[in-house]
Amino acid sequence: MPKIIAENLHKPVLLAETLQLLNPQIGEIFVDATLGLGGHAEAILASSEKTRIIGIDQDREAIELAKQRLQKFEERFQVFHSNFSEIKQVLTDAKIEKVDGILADLGVSSLQFDSATRGFSFRFDAPLDMRMNAESTAENAAGLLETLSEFEIARIIYEYGEERLSRRIARRIVEKRVSGEPVKTTKELAELVEKAVKRGKKDKIHPATRTFQALRIAVNGELGILEGFIRDGVEVLKKGGRFVVITFHSLEDRIVKQTLQKLSGKCFCPPRLPQCVCGASREVEILTRKPIISGEEETNENPRARSAKLRACLKLK
Ligand SMILES: C[S@@+](CC[C@H](N)C(=O)[O-])C[C@H]1O[C@@H](n2cnc3c(N)ncnc32)[C@H](O)[C@@H]1O
Ligand SMILES: [Zn+2]
Repeated sequence: MPKIIAENLHKPVLLAETLQLLNPQIGEIFVDATLGLGGHAEAILASSEKTRIIGIDQDREAIELAKQRLQKFEERFQVFHSNFSEIKQVLTDAKIEKVDGILADLGVSSLQFDSATRGFSFRFDAPLDMRMNAESTAENAAGLLETLSEFEIARIIYEYGEERLSRRIARRIVEKRVSGEPVKTTKELAELVEKAVKRGKKDKIHPATRTFQALRIAVNGELGILEGFIRDGVEVLKKGGRFVVITFHSLEDRIVKQTLQKLSGKCFCPPRLPQCVCGASREVEILTRKPIISGEEETNENPRARSAKLRACLKLK
């Protein structure tokens, strides 16, 4: 088998913008909460002498490749197989109290999306797995489709995929299950959605794209952990520390935007409440009034960059 080289698998998105905002200085410590193939991490480590990175990823395959790429930085780089929702525990294990910057480049990497076996994409026929952490005991995508109610499947596809025809798709999934042939593979699901949705001539994307995104988000619990992670991250930042988050769909971006707004002091409580209960307090200054998006050059070269949005903040206290 040819040797897999991390550099060739995944192009880091909004790299120059990330570096400018993280602004690594000599000897500073950063957390790369979504290490992936180590593209951003390599640039951060190379940008300044003695800079250190604590990498986190829940995908052991990615970690192994990132390690090969980053071993040249020796003890300046440490990695933990964990979920970023455990950022505080990871830092305790690394015996580090506070850090100068945190990066989260959310979602899946090209290693995962282009895998022919892990079930993230309908371009390859594979079991419907979609767990980023292949060792987790969480239900995989096929498991969810076998056990959840029709209502719950429709809700997931509607909420996380923003798919108008979610109920029709959920009905077909459950019909197949009742007939003794539950949907088990990417190809079966893509065909079922295609039949349920009937592609319009103007559609730019495959009709199953939204359903696949929705299932992946549900399997990995992606949205539920985001606000807590950002709050924990801000807590472990030093005064003057920077936090950069890159998202790839509007649901994630909305959570990041609102969490940063709350942390910058904006109150989201309903009007006329006697006192604020939403947890707003001025911890950070938002560095990106509008999200930063990729320029034409980057989107031409890297289609993943088209939906990327970057937001950043600075810790005040
Ligand atoms: C878009 S990729 C990061 C790519 C990386 N910045 C690079 O330049 O190579 C996202 C990575 O984050 C990991 N990931 C996503 N959610 C995670 C979570 N909650 N905890 C830990 N890792 C996560 C995925 O396994 C994936 O490897
Ligand atoms: Zn409030």
